[in-house]
Amino acid sequence: MVEVAVLVSGSGSNLQALIDAAKAPDYPANIALVISNRPGVKALERAAQADIPHLVIDHKAFDSREAFEAVLHDTLRAHEIDLICLAGFMRVLTGGFVAKWPKRILNIHPSLLPAFKGLHVQQQALDAGVEKSGCTVHYVTEGLDDGPVLGQRQVPVLEGDNVETLSARILREEHILYPQVLREIAKALKSRS
Ligand code: GRF
Repeated sequence: MVEVAVLVSGSGSNLQALIDAAKAPDYPANIALVISNRPGVKALERAAQADIPHLVIDHKAFDSREAFEAVLHDTLRAHEIDLICLAGFMRVLTGGFVAKWPKRILNIHPSLLPAFKGLHVQQQALDAGVEKSGCTVHYVTEGLDDGPVLGQRQVPVLEGDNVETLSARILREEHILYPQVLREIAKALKSRS
C-alpha cells in the first residue's frame, strides 16, 4: 500500500474525493495523514469524520519557509509517508523541500496547464476569453504550477459564466481526475517496490 499525506488549507473537497476513492478495496493508496497549514478549516473536519490522523502545522508560527518545511518534512517521515498530494494547499514549497521528495508530490490546479498559473486562474481564463478550461494534476517541481502533467479534464467556458459558475464546473472534474491519477501513480509506485 502506498501511504499518502494530503496537504490542505481550506474546504478539502478534493481531499474528500480522495478519501472516498481510497475506500475501494483495490485502491492502491491509503490516505494516512492530513496536514493543514491553517487551523479550523473544513478539511480537518473531513479527516476527523473519516478517522484519518490529521494535524495543523501553522506556517505563521515559523520565522521562515525553511523552518516550516523542516517540521513538515519530519512529520511526513515520522508517519512513513510515500507520496504527498497537495489539495488546495496554499503555500509554495521551496526547491529545497521539493528536492527531498522527487516525483513524490502531486498537485491539482484548476486550469489546463500550462495555461493560467498562479492565483485567480478562473478569472484569468474568463479574462482571456478562452472557450474551454479545466483542471490538471501534475508533479510538483521547483517552478510554480510547472511540473510534468499527469492528467487533465476539460470543461467548456459558457456564455455568462462568472468565477463561481466556472469554478464549480471545474471542481466537479477535479473530483474525478485526482483519484484517477493518484490510482495510477500509486499503482506504478507499488509495482516498483
Ligand atoms: C481547487 O480548485 C484546487 O484545484 C485548487 O484549490 C481548490 C481547492 O478546493 N488548488 P478544495 O479545498 O479541494 O475544496
